[in-house]
Amino acid sequence: MKFVEKSLIISNSLVNEFCYRMVISSPKIAKAANPGQFLEIGCGDYNYPLLKRPISILNIEEDLIEIIYYVIGKGTNMLSKKEPGDLIEIVGPLGNGYSVKDCENHILVGGGYGAPPMVFLANKLLRMNINNIFVCLGSKTKDMILCKEDFLDLDVSLCLATEDGSVGKKGFVTDIVKTVLDNNKGKTAVYSCGPTPMMENLYKVCREYENVLSIQCAMESVMACGIGVCNGCVIKVKENDRVIYKRVCTEGPVFEGAKVVW
Ligand SMILES: Cc1cc2nc3c(=O)[nH]c(=O)nc-3n(C[C@H](O)[C@H](O)[C@H](O)COP(=O)(O)OP(=O)(O)OC[C@H]3O[C@@H](n4cnc5c(N)ncnc54)[C@H](O)[C@@H]3O)c2cc1C
Ligand code: FES
Repeated sequence: MKFVEKSLIISNSLVNEFCYRMVISSPKIAKAANPGQFLEIGCGDYNYPLLKRPISILNIEEDLIEIIYYVIGKGTNMLSKKEPGDLIEIVGPLGNGYSVKDCENHILVGGGYGAPPMVFLANKLLRMNINNIFVCLGSKTKDMILCKEDFLDLDVSLCLATEDGSVGKKGFVTDIVKTVLDNNKGKTAVYSCGPTPMMENLYKVCREYENVLSIQCAMESVMACGIGVCNGCVIKVKENDRVIYKRVCTEGPVFEGAKVVW
């Protein structure tokens, strides 16, 4: 079930030169949300800009929802100017989140702004008393790795990769996923969020391992309505030997990698 809530901003602070972290009080949405689902956020004032912006949920504590957002264009720019005490309209939780698989190992992969939903998912797995959680984060540079501190507080194995080698292994996040897979042979589920080329590469790497039973990917798409009406967010997926279109906002954003037409 989804809700439209006027939500109170508790904090809105710079994380690094590119993005902000916001805490919002939104009791109904917080109670209903699952990892991998997203929010449509009204960023401006008096219905300008008209379209809400899709942002993933970083974590939930009681009534409070946390998000991290990059300042990209007019919507996120207006959001960055909001202050504690301001109200914003949020629709959520939207889409389908990750489905937790009955596996020995759980590998959570976040590339760039794909890291935040992995915090929410790791917390859910830990609450379910699931161990053997490996979190693999990748980005271009050390400064662009998001949510590292959130994971340091959790009982998970954290592995980092940066393209310039400024922290963790030099290279792509898929390189560290490969190492985790080489060292852990039990039944494994992979959960991912990040840029499409990263997830395509991740899917191709992981499908070579017979013990990987599921590779879930939260797909990117430019969205207008966010609620299944405009068909602006469709991607191609395989179903019963046919290629069909599915809406990322309603049938996704999480899809099995094996179903996506990459
Ligand atoms: C399911 C989902 C979850 C997301 N989660 C996050 C997150 O947690 N943190 C974060 O920083 N960003 C996230 N994004 C991307 C974020 O929605 C865009 O950066 C944002 O909409 C840009 O809006 P703008 O007004 O600042 O930019 P503008 O360029 O002015 O936006 C113009 C239009 O394009 C759409 N748009 C532009 N870029 C994107 C994009 N990359 N993806 C989807 N729509 C886009 C906007 O919704 C808007 O309708 C997510 C996108 C999706 C689809
Ligand atoms: S954004 Fe309108 S149908 Fe998905």
